[in-house]
Amino acid sequence: MSRGEAERVELTVGAVAPGGHCVARLDGQVVFVRHALPGERVVAEITEVHRGFLRADAVTVLDAAADRVEPPCPYARPGRCGGCDLQHVAPAAQLDWKTSVVVEQLTRLGGLTPAELDRLDVRVEALPGGPLGWRSRVRYAVDAADRAGLLKHRSHEVVPVDRCLIAHPAIRDLPVLADSGTRWPDAEVVATVASTGGDVSVATVTDGTTTPVSGPPVVREVAAGREWRLPADTFWQVHPAAADTLVAAVLAQLAPQPGESAWDLYGGAGLFAAALADRVGPSGRVTLVESAAQGVAAARDNLTDLPQVEIVAARVETALARRRITGPVDLVVLDPPRTGAGAPVVRAVLAAGPRAVAYVACDPAAFARDVRTFTGAGWRLAELRGFDLFPMTQHVELVGLLVPDARRRPDAGC
Ligand SMILES: C[S@@+](CC[C@H](N)C(=O)[O-])C[C@H]1O[C@@H](n2cnc3c(N)ncnc32)[C@H](O)[C@@H]1O
Repeated sequence: MSRGEAERVELTVGAVAPGGHCVARLDGQVVFVRHALPGERVVAEITEVHRGFLRADAVTVLDAAADRVEPPCPYARPGRCGGCDLQHVAPAAQLDWKTSVVVEQLTRLGGLTPAELDRLDVRVEALPGGPLGWRSRVRYAVDAADRAGLLKHRSHEVVPVDRCLIAHPAIRDLPVLADSGTRWPDAEVVATVASTGGDVSVATVTDGTTTPVSGPPVVREVAAGREWRLPADTFWQVHPAAADTLVAAVLAQLAPQPGESAWDLYGGAGLFAAALADRVGPSGRVTLVESAAQGVAAARDNLTDLPQVEIVAARVETALARRRITGPVDLVVLDPPRTGAGAPVVRAVLAAGPRAVAYVACDPAAFARDVRTFTGAGWRLAELRGFDLFPMTQHVELVGLLVPDARRRPDAGC
C-alpha cells in the first residue's frame, strides 16, 4: 500500500538507529520515526516518502516509554526546530541511546564481535554541567523576514525562536533573536560565541564573509593548561568541557613519553599538538597537519612557545601521499571531520609504524568503517570511550585507542 506525506499512521516503535530516530515497520516497510522511544505505540505523521523507506514524526504518544520526559524546549517538537533530536528522552537514557548506536555501528560497519564489544565495555559518559546551556557556539540562520532562528530538521526552512535552551547562558542573553526586535538584513547567518575565557562575540556571515558585530573578533579559550586566542570562527570544541575531556582521554590512551615523535592529523588550532608537545618534551617532536588556513594561522599564533611542534598546512591525504610528512613516528592522533579519515589515510598512517593511534571521532559510522581498515591491517581497537559532547542531540564523540594486534602479527610469539 503506498503512503503519502502528511498521512497519519499508528506504529509500534522499535530500536534506535543512527540519526536521532527509531525504526518501525509499516506494511513491511522501514519507517524512521523521530520524537519517539523504543517500545512506544505512537501516531506518526509521515514526513518523507522514499523508495524503500519512510520518515515520520511521532505526533501523539499512545503508550509512552518509561524514559520519556516532557521536552524542556517548546521548539523541540515535530515540525519545529531540528537542532535537538532527544529532548523527549531522559538525560541518562540519552547516554544509553547513544551507546546503542555506537555498538550497532561497530558491529555492522566495524565488524567487531560481541566478545570484542564486551571487552571494550562501551558506555557513553556525560560531561559536567547538565544537558542544557552547554552550546558555546551557535550559528543562527536568518529567514526572509530578517529574523534569526534555527533550521527545521532536514530543511533549509528557518524557525524563528526566542531562545535556545542548549545555548550557553551568555549566548541566550544576547539580543540577537526575533523577540529582541533585532533584524538581520543581508545576513545569512548570525554566528555567536561564548568562550571559556569569558568572551562573548557576535558576527554575521554573508556569502562566506564574516563581519564582526559585537564583542572581540578574537576570543580566549582555556584548555590543556593554556590560554588560546582564536578568531571567533576558527574550529573549536563546542561544549565548554570538551577540549579538556578529549585531551585527557587521548593522553591516557597514548601515554606519550619524553623524546617520542607524534603526528596530530586534522590538528585545527593545535589542541592535541600542544598537549602532546608538553608530554614528549623538548627532545620530542610533534607534527600538526591542518588544511584550513584559519586553523593553521591559529596553530602558528598559539604554539610559538613549543619549538618541537612543526605545523604543516596541507590536506592530510596530500601530506601523506606526497611525503610532506614521513615516518617513522611513535604516536598519531587522528581527529578527522565527519567523513572520517578514510582507508588511504589509515593505511599511510600504519605504514609510518606508530606504536599507537588515538582516533577522535564525531561520527560513529565513519569511525567504524575506519576501524575495519585498521583491523584488516592487523591492528585492533584496544580501548574505546564515548562522550556526550552534544547533549539533547543525536551526536556523540568517541576516542578509540588502536594498536598493533600482537596475536595477528607475523612475528607473534617470537
Ligand atoms: C574535528 S576538527 C578537529 C580539530 C582539532 N583536532 C581540535 O580538536 O580542535 C577537524 C579539523 O580537520 C580539518 N580538516 C578537515 N579536512 C581536512 C583534511 N582533509 N586535511 C587536513 N585537515 C582537515 C578541519 O579544518 C578541522 O580543523
